[in-house]
Order: sequence, then structure tokens, then C-alpha cells
Amino acid sequence: MVIFGASGDLTHRKLIPALYNLAVDGLLPKDFAVIGFARKPKTNEEFRNEMTEAVKQFSRTKPIDEALWERFSSTLYYHQGDYSTLADYEKLCGTLSEVDQNHNTQGNRLFYLSTPPEVYNAIIKNLGESGLGKQDGNMRRVVIEKPFGHDLNSARELNEHVHKYFHEDQIYRMDHYLGKETVQNILVFRFANGIFEPLWDYRYVDHVQITVSEAIGIEGRGGYYENSGVVRDIIQNHLLQLLALTGMEPPVEFEADAVRNEKVKVLKSLRVDSTNGDGTVRGQYGPGKVDGKVVLGYLQEDGVSPESQTETFLAMKFWIDNWRWAGVPWYVRSGKRMPKRLTEIAIQFKKPPMNLFSESTAQTIEANSLVMTIQPDEGIALKFSSKVPGSGENIKPVVMDFKYGESFNVPAPDAYERLLLDCLLGDPTLFTRADEVEAQWQIITPVIEQWEDGIGSSVDLYRAGTVGPKEADDFIKADGRRWRPL
Ligand code: BG6
Repeated sequence: MVIFGASGDLTHRKLIPALYNLAVDGLLPKDFAVIGFARKPKTNEEFRNEMTEAVKQFSRTKPIDEALWERFSSTLYYHQGDYSTLADYEKLCGTLSEVDQNHNTQGNRLFYLSTPPEVYNAIIKNLGESGLGKQDGNMRRVVIEKPFGHDLNSARELNEHVHKYFHEDQIYRMDHYLGKETVQNILVFRFANGIFEPLWDYRYVDHVQITVSEAIGIEGRGGYYENSGVVRDIIQNHLLQLLALTGMEPPVEFEADAVRNEKVKVLKSLRVDSTNGDGTVRGQYGPGKVDGKVVLGYLQEDGVSPESQTETFLAMKFWIDNWRWAGVPWYVRSGKRMPKRLTEIAIQFKKPPMNLFSESTAQTIEANSLVMTIQPDEGIALKFSSKVPGSGENIKPVVMDFKYGESFNVPAPDAYERLLLDCLLGDPTLFTRADEVEAQWQIITPVIEQWEDGIGSSVDLYRAGTVGPKEADDFIKADGRRWRPL
């Protein structure tokens, strides 16, 4: 496996710890080695030492198994090179041949692009021109991290560029949300149970709410975030994936293309609401307090322009124009510096068709909801009404609660562990296909373009540590509904 961007944060925090944990679980092939490729000069020894620190800090399993790490780290190599210089890739061929000899890796290669997106084109081209991408009886695959393009045109161009050198079945576009256990469980919950799917449509569902709320800010990534905003950082990829998995039809089989075909279909039926403004509410966090700690406002963060209009919060309303979801609104929201970390998908059902109880009791009856908590506190909860014991006619909502932590006594692997393993095994089910990533941009690009043209919602301030701007509440209240409390 060759990691481009080996000095970067992702390599330290996620990739090497995930590989090490695969080794701990006995899932990594015995004949395996990693070459870190980056610009800074560094020896193998220095790279190994850095990775030792990274694994000590970020590994899921602790303490580190010294003997295993000793073995694993001896398979780490460093190759200094410039991403846009072909000669450096020719040299890389030499390093790879050496590694093949030392580790019996037989010419199989997984290239991981963990660099800033500006150098994706150069890396892909050089992999192609140096012959490294050519699959000739052995395995040659390329993993591309997000962001995949910054709008529809750039995503199309990037797809065309990659397709010049790699076949679609060699390309693994990463969206780490798909590697989360709870996200994979959406399809299992829907399609391995008989009782939920009959309720999963316009006849019983009033609306759906998807929330990706984060307590963290932009974590020193001002330069990146200024050009991204929450719309590109979360909504276009992670959140639309959650929506697609929740809204898609059952695939004909549980196989990569069958699953992705259904996701593409639902994404193509997705429409941003335009009955009330542009169907969006944008916000930006000001100074405030999160978890009792005073935090800066977005405009005071490093790398952010003092006049920035970048949104750190976004609420949107969608429709899915197909038979199943006709007339069911989908409300989504995501923001940084909200009160807590929470990702959930809530299916809000309709109220019973008539009231059998007294007027005052009827007031207390809440509609049923089914909430899939993706993180933290992973689980699924079904809320229904129950009689309060006693002679009166009191009704209260109660909850049937499934918690992963309580039901399964095994720790969940990190998303990157599952996804890296799938790349090695050649299973692209949990990766975004070319047409899928374009379908995602097709929905989001017109929204961004409107904002750029000064049309649509303004960017409203919210205090850090609050649930977003007041306008987001008004937005959903206009439909007679409320956001779920976080
Ligand atoms: C990343 C975004 O893709 O996802 C970050 O760039 C965000 O801004 C992160 O914080 C959230 O991922 P997770 O797994 O912590 O929910």
C-alpha cells in the first residue's frame, strides 16, 4: 500500500492506526507492506518512529502490543518524492520492487491519495504514466479521499481524468461514514427485518429528520473550511449518503453495483424544496461556550477571512420525487460548534388516524418515531404511547431502546479499518461510484451557485454551543414541525 500524503494528519490519526488494528485482529494479509510517499526528506527509521507515536496516541486498541508493533512497523517504508514529478514515480517503482522482494507482495498495489485535492490530478497522471496503475494480472487499486471535486463540473473532470488511467472497478472513492457500523446497519435494519419496511413510505411517515451535529469547531483547518463550508464538508457527502441509505429501494441483491444503483436512483429523485426561499438556512458560529469552555467565533479562527460568509451550519429541506416518498419532506441539518456531537436519523410517523380518547388526553399523544443514532451512544429507539398506570386515562410516550454497547459485547472497529480491508479485498460496496458522486454534486451545486449569485438565505449568526440560528427553527416551524432536541 502506498500512501501519498504520508506526513499528513489522516495518515497519523486514521490510516496507520487502522492498519495496525487490522493486524491486531488478524485481518491484515501476512505479505503486506506500506510505503509512505511525501515531500519531506525522511528515513525509514524516522517514519517508523513517527508512526509509533501516532499509533500509541490514536490506536483503537490499547495498550499497544509491542511484539506485534515491532513486526508491523518493520513493514513501513518511506519514499521521498514530489507529487508532480514523473521521475519520482519511476524511483517509486524501484522501492516497490524491493518491497516486493522483502515481503512477497507480488506486484499488488493499493495507492491511497491522502493529500490535498490540488495534487490529485498530478498523482493520478503520474501513476498512469509510470505504468504503476496498470493492472496486469495483479491488483492495482486507487483510493481517493474526499473532497471529490468542489462542484459538479470539477467532479466530472476528476472522474474523466481518473478514468483515463484507471477502470472504475479499480477506483475506491472514500466516504468514511459508509465504514461506520451504524451506517451499515441502516440497510440491515431495513432489509433484514420484515416489520419496518411496510411502514417505510408516504402512507405512514410524516417526515424524516437527519442531524449531523458536531461540538468541535474547524480544528485549525481554516484554509480548507473557507472553501468548503458545511455544505461541501458534510452535506454533499456524509449526509446525502445517510439520506440515500434511508430512502433507497431494496437492491435486488446485496452486491456493490446493485446497492449503488439504488442509491443513485434515490439521489436522482432528490429535489431541494423551493416553496419557501431556497430551501436552506445558513448559519455561522460566533464566540460562545461549548462544554463549559469558552471558544472563538468562526471569524476569529486562524485562516478565516474577517468578512467570511462561509456557513458552519446548514439546514435544508428536500423532497424525494418518487412513489414511495411522495409528499414526505426530509429535513436535514449539520453544524459545527453545536452543543454536542450527535448524528441521528429520525423517522417521524404520522399520528393515529382518529382520536379515541378525551380531548385533553389526545393533546398528550405524540406521533411515533424511530430514531437511528449513528453516533455517539449508537442504537435504535422506537417511541410509542403507553397508558400511565392508574385509574385515570393518562398517556405518555415511552421508548423501546436498543443500544449496541449493551447488546453486543464486541468493540466496533473504526470506519477506516473496515474500509481499508474492503479495498484490499476488492469490495467496493461501501465506496462512492462515479455516477453517485456526480448525482450528489448535481443536487448541491445549484444551491451553492445561487448563494454565490447572492440569491437565497443569508448567513445568520449563532452563538457557539447553541443549536444553530433561530432562523432554522422558524424554517421548520413554518411547516408546523419542530427539530428534535439534540
Ligand atoms: C470529515 C469532515 O469528513 O468528517 C470533518 O471533514 C468532520 O469536518 C468529520 O468533523 C466528522 O466525522 P466523524 O466521523 O467524526 O463524524
